[in-house]
This record gives sequence, structure tokens and C-alpha cells, in this order.
Amino acid sequence: MDRFLLFLGCLLPSVADYSKDQHGYFMFSDFFCYIPSRNPKEVQYLIDWYFNMELTMQYNSSVGGWTGFTPAGLITAAKFNADKYDVVQRILERELVCQRSVEMVYNGTEEAKVEPNVSLQTVEDNDSTLECSALDFYPKHIRLTWFSNGQEVTEGVTFSDVLPNGDWTYQAHTYLTLTPGKQDHISCMVQHTSLKEPKIYNWEPSMNQTDRDYIIGGVCALLLGAVFLCVGLIHYKQKWNTFAV
Ligand SMILES: *[C@@H]1O[C@H](CO)[C@@H](O)[C@H](O)[C@H]1NC(C)=O
Ligand SMILES: *[C@@H]1O[C@H](CO)[C@@H](O)[C@H](O)[C@H]1NC(C)=O
Ligand SMILES: *[C@@H]1O[C@H](CO)[C@@H](O)[C@H](O)[C@H]1NC(C)=O
Ligand SMILES: *[C@@H]1O[C@H](CO)[C@@H](O)[C@H](O)[C@H]1NC(C)=O
Repeated sequence: MDRFLLFLGCLLPSVADYSKDQHGYFMFSDFFCYIPSRNPKEVQYLIDWYFNMELTMQYNSSVGGWTGFTPAGLITAAKFNADKYDVVQRILERELVCQRSVEMVYNGTEEAKVEPNVSLQTVEDNDSTLECSALDFYPKHIRLTWFSNGQEVTEGVTFSDVLPNGDWTYQAHTYLTLTPGKQDHISCMVQHTSLKEPKIYNWEPSMNQTDRDYIIGGVCALLLGAVFLCVGLIHYKQKWNTFAV
């Protein structure tokens, strides 16, 4: 499972402008919840404290206090660590803001489901390979299975990796090499968390190689028939002419 870093922004009146001129010296702090798992005990509460763009000190709930990084930061950190109210406030903030967010954060990712857009087609320039494509789905895990006449097919099957689309969705492809000359009933089954039950897509072999061969054969036969008919008619006409003379 993914881990989360919940950025809480610059909460509290912590952006203070200490500038005397337009260039400005100012301090600000970033607040984070680091949520590595569903276990609320593992949640870390972090505060990065900056002065004039420099990280001067940091609060880390796992350390249990502030750590200074600059001379001024060391002094302030020591002051905050000795301040009972500050210590208790941070413990409560972690509980109220970070630990209470764990469920929401994980629930959110479970609710984000996008159904794959599935298509079944022959590979370009290769009528003997079928491609089953699942596009634009989320989350990543998906299962694609081929069936021939109701039986799962594993031979002649290849899978692409599950590819990220660059946004947060994914795509996956699987290929099946067809047995030439066989009229199998082929389907591609898709299993994904966005689908209540597996979805089956049937291959419609409306215009596959074998059909096209029959049509071409039929047209040729018709043409050949027409040629014979013509020859026959001419021959007959010539015969008839001979009689007439
Ligand atoms: C916070 O402290 C823990 C325990 O020392 C450490 O593992 C973690 O890396 C620290 N986090 C940051 C952001 O420094
Ligand atoms: C998270 O999901 C669980 C189970 O579906 C539900 O009981 C709980 O109320 C949800 N919590 C939040 C914060 O949405
Ligand atoms: C599914 O993918 C096809 C091919 O890329 C596209 O033309 C179509 O608009 C998509 N449908 C949806 C609902 O996104
Ligand atoms: C079509 O694909 C199959 C399987 O990938 C391969 O064996 C065959 O050589 C390909 N045929 C052509 C004409 O590219």
C-alpha cells in the first residue's frame, strides 16, 4: 500500500512578517502528517520551521520534540522543549489532526476507482494476433484472462506491463495468437476492483481472415462464371449466325 504525506499547509498564525524593509525577513512553518500505514501509532507529526527561507528547526513527534539546526534554532528549540504547554499542544495536534486523518486518507484511495475502458481488436498488420486493451483504470491492479470456447487459454498469451498513463491512471494489454483456420469463440475477461463482477468481452469475428477469403473466393467465382457465360453466348451467337447465313 502507498504511504501518505499529508501536507497541512502553513496553519496557525505562523507566517509572521518581521520585515523592516521591502526585502523582508519572515518566518513560516510547514506542518505534515506522515502516514506510512493504517496503524495510527506509526503516524508522525512534523513541523518544519523556517526563518528567512532557512530551515532553523524541526518538530518530529517520533523524536518527541524540537531539533535546532542553526544557532538561533537551537535556542528556540530548547525553549519550546522546556515549555510544557508547547509539548502538550503538539501531542494533541498529532492526535487530532494526523491520527484522525488516517482512516479518511485510506478510505479515500479505496473509493477512487475508475473502470477500465476495454477494447478487443486484431493487432495492426497481423490478423493472427488479438489484442485486449484495458485503458484509463485505477487502481493499478488488474487481471486479464483469455477464453476460447469457454476454456481459459494460457498458451500463445503475452501480457504487457501495467503502464502508468502519466496522470494517475493505468493501462494494460494482453495478446493472444489465434490458431489459423479455426473458428473459436474467443473472449477476454477483465477483473478489476471497480467492477462488481468480472466483465467478459466477446470477440466478434465478423470480418476475420477466413470470412474475407470466402468473400474473395465468391467474387472470383462470380467473375469466372460471367466470363464463361460471355464465351458461351458469343459461341452460341456465332453458331446461330452460321445457321442464319
Ligand atoms: C522523525 O524521527 C524518526 C525517528 O527518529 C525518524 O525515523 C524520521 O526519519 C524523522 N523524520 C524526519 C522527516 O526527519
Ligand atoms: C472508512 O470506511 C469504513 C468502512 O467502510 C467506515 O466505517 C468509516 O466510517 C470510514 N471513515 C471515514 C472517516 O470515512
Ligand atoms: C475508450 O477508448 C477508445 C479508444 O481509445 C475511445 O475512442 C473512447 O472514447 C473511450 N471511451 C471512453 C468512455 O472513455
Ligand atoms: C503475428 O503475430 C504472431 C504472434 O505474435 C507472430 O508469430 C507472427 O509472425 C505475426 N505475423 C505477422 C505477419 O506479423
